[in-house]
Amino acid sequence: MSNISAAITAVGAYVPEFVLTNPMLETMVDTNDDWITTRTGIKERRILKRDAKGTSFLAIRAAKDLLLKSGIDPLTIDLVVVATATPDMKAASTASYTATQIGAINAFSFDMDSACSGFLFGMSTAARYIESGRYKKVLLIGADKMSSIVNYKDRATCIIFGDGAGAVLFEPNDEGLGVQDEYLRTDGSGREFLQATNGGSLNAITHEVLDRGGHYLYQEGKTVFKNAVFNMSDATTKIMERNQLNKTDVQWLAAHQANKRIINATAERMELNPEKVMMNIEKYGNTTSATLPMLLNDYETQLKKGDTVIFAAFGGGFSWGSIYLKWAYTKTNN
Ligand code: UT7
Repeated sequence: MSNISAAITAVGAYVPEFVLTNPMLETMVDTNDDWITTRTGIKERRILKRDAKGTSFLAIRAAKDLLLKSGIDPLTIDLVVVATATPDMKAASTASYTATQIGAINAFSFDMDSACSGFLFGMSTAARYIESGRYKKVLLIGADKMSSIVNYKDRATCIIFGDGAGAVLFEPNDEGLGVQDEYLRTDGSGREFLQATNGGSLNAITHEVLDRGGHYLYQEGKTVFKNAVFNMSDATTKIMERNQLNKTDVQWLAAHQANKRIINATAERMELNPEKVMMNIEKYGNTTSATLPMLLNDYETQLKKGDTVIFAAFGGGFSWGSIYLKWAYTKTNN
């Protein structure tokens, strides 16, 4: 390990204005507010309704929010990474369009996809670029327009997902703050339980596929749920044990917002009190790559320099893990 650590120094976020509530979903599929609230914790989600706008629209706005709040000159950014499971297009990265649109014309850029773990794995990637000493400003964006792959006739998935984006800036830190440790894993035998099956190189989209809605996201909720609870709890407790952290050393759990019951189960295994658990799933649902940076944006004013934040995620692949980070700044109201 180098002496340079990779710290988060700025955050930003964006959600589209259209709010899809539980009562609205009651008119679309056989469900009800009580079932959704008790089983998932979700009350509403945001949907990008504008015509001809893809994930880059969300990513650009989140990045611009970060630039505006931090005063960072986009010309100084070295690298832009967009974590997304719903890129604008199959080829021509969402990141390169986003970087150009925000004026980061001295940066190189690329997309990363690991479903709901995309942002977590992106944090690992961004940290390595900073720790190498070669790059000074890495902009990591998590953005997903999940409404582009969700079937609004399938009550098993349409109640969960929403659209949104969040952005963080990684910079070198010489006080030992930033990313401390990580435990990241994948298991390809889980891919059958959560996938967008058609439209990739394996299974084309044909007329037959379109007719039966095979181009949408498919999830076997129960299996994903069980694996998410086990692996997020396992990863976070492993990170705590090997860094000799006990519950009083941890100020925050920033966990992927897929289901309130999964987050609470993870927090219980870590023996954390509820006030240490970042939660905004009730407002946005599961925004896939965007949940973690959107949490940081919502909790930015409560985070203090030196706070220990444990990140955790689980998603399609299967993919999962945990990152231990020391927060690098206290936001002052100016
Ligand atoms: O972010 C990536 C990872 N994704 C996740 O982590 C999601 C993990 N899975 C989950 O969050 C949960 O499994 C769900 C929220 C998707 C489903 O909750 P569940 O408690 O596992 O419900 P279930 O699938 O076992 O279904 C229980 C019952 C079933 O009825 P019966 O068979 O007991 O009569 C379902 O048909 O609830 C029914 N049901 C619904 N009822 C009302 C399923 N979906 C709905 C619905 N509204 N939307």
